[in-house]
Amino acid sequence: MKLLVTGGAGFIGSNFIRYFLRAHPDAHIVNLDKLTYAGNLDNLSEIESHPNYKFVRGDVADSNLINSILSQPIDAIVHFAAETHVDRSIADAQAFVRTNVLGTYTLLDVAKRKRVGRFLHISTDEVYGSLTADESANEQSHIQPNSPYAASKAASDMFARSFWQTYQFPVVITRCSNNYGPYQFPEKLIPLMITHALHDMKLPVYGDGLNERDWLFVEDHCRAIDRVLEAGRPGEVYNIGFGRPVKNLEVVRLLLRIMGKSEDLIEFVADRPGHDRRYALDTGKIRAELGWEPAVGLEQGLAETVEWYRNHPDWVERTRNGEYLTYCEKFYRNRDATLPQL
Ligand code: NAD
Ligand code: DAU
Repeated sequence: MKLLVTGGAGFIGSNFIRYFLRAHPDAHIVNLDKLTYAGNLDNLSEIESHPNYKFVRGDVADSNLINSILSQPIDAIVHFAAETHVDRSIADAQAFVRTNVLGTYTLLDVAKRKRVGRFLHISTDEVYGSLTADESANEQSHIQPNSPYAASKAASDMFARSFWQTYQFPVVITRCSNNYGPYQFPEKLIPLMITHALHDMKLPVYGDGLNERDWLFVEDHCRAIDRVLEAGRPGEVYNIGFGRPVKNLEVVRLLLRIMGKSEDLIEFVADRPGHDRRYALDTGKIRAELGWEPAVGLEQGLAETVEWYRNHPDWVERTRNGEYLTYCEKFYRNRDATLPQL
């Protein structure tokens, strides 16, 4: 199996690459990543010299580059690359439109022409919008994105779908709930709360803290992607989630308990504009059809995540002070810039 992974220097992509090379020692992976602020080659240092792994710095919206990469045989593309932080999309969504919409379209277009055998588009439960207490979204539910980020992901899903409907290009879409675990950039709720609490800094909870998310440990997501890659049906959508939405305040309190810190650190701050109240997925399809189940419960996953951040103060510090960006520049300059041959 020869894979092109996009966005592999980010949180889920880097966990996926490490997981996939472990689970499939014969697999080859090309990782294409632009190294935006969210791309961090520190995340991949343990496999950077792996003989079956190659890194290419570049933009998924660059059709010439994609064309060159796909001149070698690639069995499947796993497309993670995206702008992902909702708050940043509220401030300015330009990069979200460029990468998530134009970038996905460009990748689909070149991959179709090169007849890539499978295109796995990694999407999100946010495309279904905010749900009420007794609702959960299945794969047929309406797409009702509320943030500019969610709108850009919904648009990319629609392009992916159209490539199957129009050209029978074998696209599969996954829509996953909120991930957490090692190597997550500390702008997202869980790593932000952990890194603040480690330094006894205030924990900013938006609004009343009663918004609900369905937290999934990142390795469970990686296993689900592996199953979809292997056996997902082309043209289909698969929801992926743990199956138990939890209020933000409950997550933060649980973290503080695990860390032995006081709830006095919690500070309620102004709400996020258009803040989705609740995400909840019906994940019956992937469980019944592909036999996937999550393995890591929230309490265990949070404890492992806290442990990871506690044991990686250098990673956190380099992320906070921007040093990882300099390292990425150096890494790239010191590498042969020619395209990898598998
Ligand atoms: P992330 O922000 O940690 O990483 C994104 C990666 O994409 C970075 O390495 C970045 O450098 C790269 N990238 C950005 N623009 C690029 C471009 N134009 N060309 C090439 N690379 C580019 O994101 P993540 O949290 O790992 O999310 C990965 C994917 O999973 C995204 O598509 C996201 O929408 C989806 N998703 C995330 C979650 C979650 O909870 N984090 C949940 C469901 C789905
Ligand atoms: O649902 C999947 C999505 O999960 C992914 O598609 C996105 O890429 C990912 O960023 C995430 O989006 P959220 O907006 O749900 O995640 P975030 O970690 O930003 O926020 C989780 C919840 O916590 C949300 O209700 C907002 C709240 N929050 C967040 C931050 C950063 C706070 O209360 N305080 C904070 O400081």
